[in-house]
Amino acid sequence: MSEKRQTTEAIALAVLFLGLMVFTVVGFGMRTWQPPAASKHASELDGMIRYLLITTGVVFVLGHVVLVAFLVRYGRGKKAPSPATSARSEKLWSILPVVFMALISEVGVLFIGLPVWDEIYGDVPENAVTVEVTARQFEWIARYPGPDGAFGRVEPELVDGQRNPLGLDPADGTGADDLVMRNQLHLPVDRAALLLLRSHDVLHSFSVAAFRVKQDIVPGMSISTMFTPNLPGTYEIGCAELCGLGHYRMRGRVIVHTESDFSAWLRDQTEGTR
Ligand code: CUA
Repeated sequence: MSEKRQTTEAIALAVLFLGLMVFTVVGFGMRTWQPPAASKHASELDGMIRYLLITTGVVFVLGHVVLVAFLVRYGRGKKAPSPATSARSEKLWSILPVVFMALISEVGVLFIGLPVWDEIYGDVPENAVTVEVTARQFEWIARYPGPDGAFGRVEPELVDGQRNPLGLDPADGTGADDLVMRNQLHLPVDRAALLLLRSHDVLHSFSVAAFRVKQDIVPGMSISTMFTPNLPGTYEIGCAELCGLGHYRMRGRVIVHTESDFSAWLRDQTEGTR
């Protein structure tokens, strides 16, 4: 095969891949792929994904343009003049991209990422709603502290699948008004929700795509995650960690109420426990 033909084929391939990429990006961008953004940090997190896609996309396209330019210019075999180079320019062109890429990622992490991190793991606002969520094969058990605002003591020996799934100790008075419910979580809109995540058996992961929340749950630990729902509605809780044969059906619902609906719901529930 002649060198000229080889070069032409290489250029054609590069152009083909570049075209495919543009086609994919445009096709992908034509519709909305993400679930509704239903928490305060969701749109910021989406912004981070957009930022990364755009910056790395631009670098990718630039890289290919340079590649094609070099193919055209220096791809004609030995007759083509080889580019003049020096140790200094080699060094420069090694360091420059590193600095450039580091800047891109640091801007993303510091300016877009840190505020989001703070909303998830930062200081808990005074008016936050605290809910304990216990994962077990294969369900979610939510517990509200009740009117006294304190969670009652739980004892592993008292865990009873149906009647006392969390092992609440009846000897502890603070637990008498605790509200326990399976596979559903009720939250008020525009108030931070602090979840204390526990597991009774294996690793699980609490995931609500609409809130852009995903937090691994480790048995033996109480791990907290925080978010502020800002769109009333019903969303799906999924388990994002393969935790056994029933992993696929480990689902629950989060119902985000308006503040007054939430108070009414809470009142109904606590009256029911008396
Ligand atoms: Cu729990 Cu998968």
